[in-house]
Amino acid sequence: MSVHVGWDENLARALIDERSELEGALLPILHALQEKFGYVDSRAVAIVASALNVSRSEVFGTISFYHDFKRQPPLGRTIKFCRAEACQARGAEDLASHLEKSCGAKIDGGYQNGVSVETAYCLGNCALGPNALFDGEIHGRLDPQSLEELYARAARKAGARQ
Ligand code: FES
Repeated sequence: MSVHVGWDENLARALIDERSELEGALLPILHALQEKFGYVDSRAVAIVASALNVSRSEVFGTISFYHDFKRQPPLGRTIKFCRAEACQARGAEDLASHLEKSCGAKIDGGYQNGVSVETAYCLGNCALGPNALFDGEIHGRLDPQSLEELYARAARKAGARQ
């Protein structure tokens, strides 16, 4: 779904302007920037602060507070792997161990093979767990084989970006 593009100030300004009149505009703006660029570039902070008439430190504070906001360009691709209760009950922890053993992934341990697997706490698809999110798409009813395939796909996409 989301293909990230390199930093582009005009594009950033357009994304910010489109949302600056929204109620509580800061979060939608930050999400839009991250969606487009894969992270929130520090050069966007001053533009956001100016558009919303808030301080830069307020913008930085919000970026730091929410773990989902990245401050650096992604080094590869990210899979969000759900380890919340319902997915745990459907075997998420065994799957996590399998992924680490079979693919060399290290969950919440940065990038391996160009892929970062990060823990998520509920992806809103509990009945069809275990679940993972990749490229904006939920992958449900995961089993060892489908999770390995998803990981391999993410690694291929990461490689294609280099
Ligand atoms: S607990 Fe995993 S999607 Fe809700």
